[in-house]
Amino acid sequence: MANILAVGIATLDIINTVESYPAEDEEVRALSQRQARGGNATNTLVVLSQLGHHGCWAGVIIDEPDVQLIKQDLASFNIDFSACTVLNSGKMPTSYISLSKESGSRTIVHHRDCPEFSFTDFQKIDLQPFDWVHFEGRNVDETLNMFKWLKQHYPDLPFSLEVEKPRANIESLFDYPHFLMFSQQYALAKGYETASALLQALPTTISASCTWGELGAWAINNANIVSSPAYPPANIVDTLGAGDTFNAGLISALLQQKTIKQALTQACQLAGHKCGQLGFANLING
Ligand code: FRU
Repeated sequence: MANILAVGIATLDIINTVESYPAEDEEVRALSQRQARGGNATNTLVVLSQLGHHGCWAGVIIDEPDVQLIKQDLASFNIDFSACTVLNSGKMPTSYISLSKESGSRTIVHHRDCPEFSFTDFQKIDLQPFDWVHFEGRNVDETLNMFKWLKQHYPDLPFSLEVEKPRANIESLFDYPHFLMFSQQYALAKGYETASALLQALPTTISASCTWGELGAWAINNANIVSSPAYPPANIVDTLGAGDTFNAGLISALLQQKTIKQALTQACQLAGHKCGQLGFANLING
């Protein structure tokens, strides 16, 4: 069991399941609606907790009514949020999500009125008890300061970075983490047509993975490329947070000193399993 800190966001997800994704200007009825806690960093923590690890979240909490559901969910997975910055004005980031029953796709409209977690607040966290720190690839300038701080004050503490979206200057973060987790979205936005093309273009000192939807995922370590197929369930029910689940599977396997190939396979299996169920609860034994 490891102690893992994740820096990133928690959201309120309002999820409408629809028969199929609507056309623009169409009016459709949702088949069902549910509200859930979301956000990449906290999704990853919730999965890590089910893999037997202890999670701690560092992010911003706005003290408004919607935060209750988020706190309750985190507490139910024993996730410590005492390292968070608490503010009295603003709104918890909220995602309005259409989940297509037909394809399993998840289309997200995201609204935020919430500042990013700052380097100043990161510096206040005692990182001694942690075995791993995971970062969402956002808030680039502050995150760069956090990385430099980690390297200087906790040189033996491994950390990972999720690179999901192509954000300005995000490449300035790549030299620091122990492991980088790229998405297909990032690779395509940068003009790479395959996961291995992106991974091979990285400096050879970098260890990284790149997911590629139903084709599975690739990883590179010591300039050696490995891959794993996807493990889709018989019925794709909910792909929301599949990437966050993949990252949790990878972090857990890397902490257990598994080979990169084993880690990639474990992460793909877990992400596939998640796509067969709604949400994250009972992911391991469900
Ligand atoms: C899924 C997710 C959702 C959230 C959105 C934020 O990966 O974390 O739970 O609403 O992405 O970008």
